[in-house]
Amino acid sequence: MLNVIDRWRCCWAEATGKPQRFAKPLKRMRFLLSPWRNFCVIGCLAFTVPALAQQAATPAKPKSGIEFAGADIRAMQADDFANPGMLWVARGEKLWNVPAGRSNKSCASCHQDASSSMKTVAARYPRIDAATGKVINIETRINGCRERNQAADPLQYESEELLALTAYVAHQSRGMPVAVVADATNRPHLERGREIYYRRQGQMNLACVNCHVQNAGRRLLAETISEGHGNAYPAYRLEWQAIGSLQRRLRACYYGVRAVMPAFGSDELLDLELYLARRATGLAVETPGVRR
Ligand code: HEC
Ligand code: HEC
Repeated sequence: MLNVIDRWRCCWAEATGKPQRFAKPLKRMRFLLSPWRNFCVIGCLAFTVPALAQQAATPAKPKSGIEFAGADIRAMQADDFANPGMLWVARGEKLWNVPAGRSNKSCASCHQDASSSMKTVAARYPRIDAATGKVINIETRINGCRERNQAADPLQYESEELLALTAYVAHQSRGMPVAVVADATNRPHLERGREIYYRRQGQMNLACVNCHVQNAGRRLLAETISEGHGNAYPAYRLEWQAIGSLQRRLRACYYGVRAVMPAFGSDELLDLELYLARRATGLAVETPGVRR
């Protein structure tokens, strides 16, 4: 790990484009060419505002990621004909009506019109499954119906079908405020999600809170750091050229700080998703969002 002075040098080099003036020329060259440079850009973040470490993780009024996006991205998300995520919503609508598994039933055979039966789901999930006591997100809930109600195999995370069905289901709550309630059953999971949110991790030794609370609104390489809410997911990312789940986005943040990525569907990511939903209380569901 770099010490504070090294970090400061990094910040200096980042801000001025030149290494700090006491550095030897050879060291300069190595620094500018080395992978440490990226490391430093992020290292600066942790160093700049240590005094804010005690700040609350939940700003009074949460701000959606879309408010931090450029005008081009905002326009794309707002127009259903330009929003590429709507292609997955349309695929989901088709799948909704296709019989699957040994039951030969479609989602529609039991749930009929999704615009009424699925409305509010994205505002209420993740929640605790009464039968198992585990946290379930929309993906897990859909797979529960596949297995138990359709007698079909569960769908893989990030498979086209699961993304399409999740986007379709979540889209039915677009515009509704996220409203996950804290109660005795989900409290231990919310607590655990919160712990993860504040835990420094990875080679960069950064916690979610260091970026998404203490540095929200600042630029990191090509991106503006938002408050890190999940209200737009599944979302279409230009970088992915596809729609992706919230867990894919979260794994990208783990990767960004060079931490070990938890598996899709792991308890860690589910608890984190639950905590994020609680943090996003009141924000409108945007699915399908568009992000850089
Ligand atoms: C044989 C009937 C049946 C089929 C087929 C079925 N489901 Fe379900 N589904 C249910 C029942 C019953 C529940 C409510 C169970 C509960 O309350 O936990 C449910 C609950 C859900 C929920 C949670 C709703 C809520 O308000 O919390 C979602 C989302 C869902 N199903 C999606 C799907 C999708 C997507 C498909 C098709 C891939 C599907 N279901 C197929 C019977 C079915
Ligand atoms: C090094 C800084 C950094 C850290 C640490 C970090 N992220 Fe991110 N995160 C980003 C950047 C950059 C983006 C993309 C721009 C944006 O939307 O904030 C992002 C995006 C997100 C988004 C998507 C927001 C949206 O509206 O599309 C979520 C959710 C998120 N992060 C959650 C987390 C969580 C949870 C953690 C901790 C496990 C975490 N991040 C750790 C930098 C970070």
